[in-house]
Amino acid sequence: METYSAPAKIILFGEHAVVYGEPAIAAPFKALQAQVTAMPAPPGSGLSIISAASGLTLHVSLDDGTPDDALVYAAQLVLKALDKPPPDLTLALRSSIPIGGGFGSSAAVSTALMRALSAALGAPLSGEALNSLVYEAERLHHGTPSGVDNTVIVYEQPVYFVRGTPPETFRIGAPLTFLVADSGVSASTRETVSDVRQLYMRDQARYGAIIGEIGDVVRTARALIESGGAPRELGALMNANHDLLRALSVSSAHLDRLCAAARDSGAYGAKLSGGGRGGSLIALVEPDLAPSIAAALRSAGAAQTWLMQLT
Ligand code: PMV
Repeated sequence: METYSAPAKIILFGEHAVVYGEPAIAAPFKALQAQVTAMPAPPGSGLSIISAASGLTLHVSLDDGTPDDALVYAAQLVLKALDKPPPDLTLALRSSIPIGGGFGSSAAVSTALMRALSAALGAPLSGEALNSLVYEAERLHHGTPSGVDNTVIVYEQPVYFVRGTPPETFRIGAPLTFLVADSGVSASTRETVSDVRQLYMRDQARYGAIIGEIGDVVRTARALIESGGAPRELGALMNANHDLLRALSVSSAHLDRLCAAARDSGAYGAKLSGGGRGGSLIALVEPDLAPSIAAALRSAGAAQTWLMQLT
């Protein structure tokens, strides 16, 4: 029995605008993980996936077109890419990543599952092959994913990501401490991405300008992170990014309240992270203030908080 895992991810800057070709900065968030254990199954029993969260057992065959279930689809993609029939194998999945939480849960689950299945078939996928298969699986969840989630999760490194170009890593000039919070509200990224698309189609000049401004914030943030610049300035950029995401309609009263609670209790800046309307947020903090800011976030309604160091 072998277990394969993949981390969650956090978008630091640039979500939504990244779908339109602007850059985003994202990092793996290793406190949360998806794990898949591959166990041999009796001859003739075929391939099944057991999900601890739902308690369901799913059977994978190659004949059912595109299935509704993303786990089955992810397994089929691997079998087709490797040109193999379903083996006699049980894949047991468990994950500590909240679903709909802006943590890239779907990409992490697909990554762990594809790693386990390809290894069990004796043909572990390379990073590049895995990344493109996970992207393909993401299309079932997200419609038009930018590719940022799968890239960060597969390569497990902070990236500066521009859709359609090879991911760039970047230097972190001085360590940064973030508080990550789960708003406790689950939200659909597919829906927020499609709502932004509708706004953009209705008024390209206005929404295109907001998207371009987010791109400027991300480019400035990268330069600041690389130079180890003042956290106060980086925090101001996070606040600006949050305001621009509000203008794209993807924040919520609850997320705004949580960001305000973090800033009022001493965070340098705070913004929603991921698809929005719920999901997660991040705040840039001085390490010694982290406990009191985390407490403020929880009393403002955050379900959970974690510390994340970028070094
Ligand atoms: O909600 P998440 O964690 O899947 O993040 C989605 C990021 C978006 O920019 C909103 C969509 C995308 O495909 O990049």
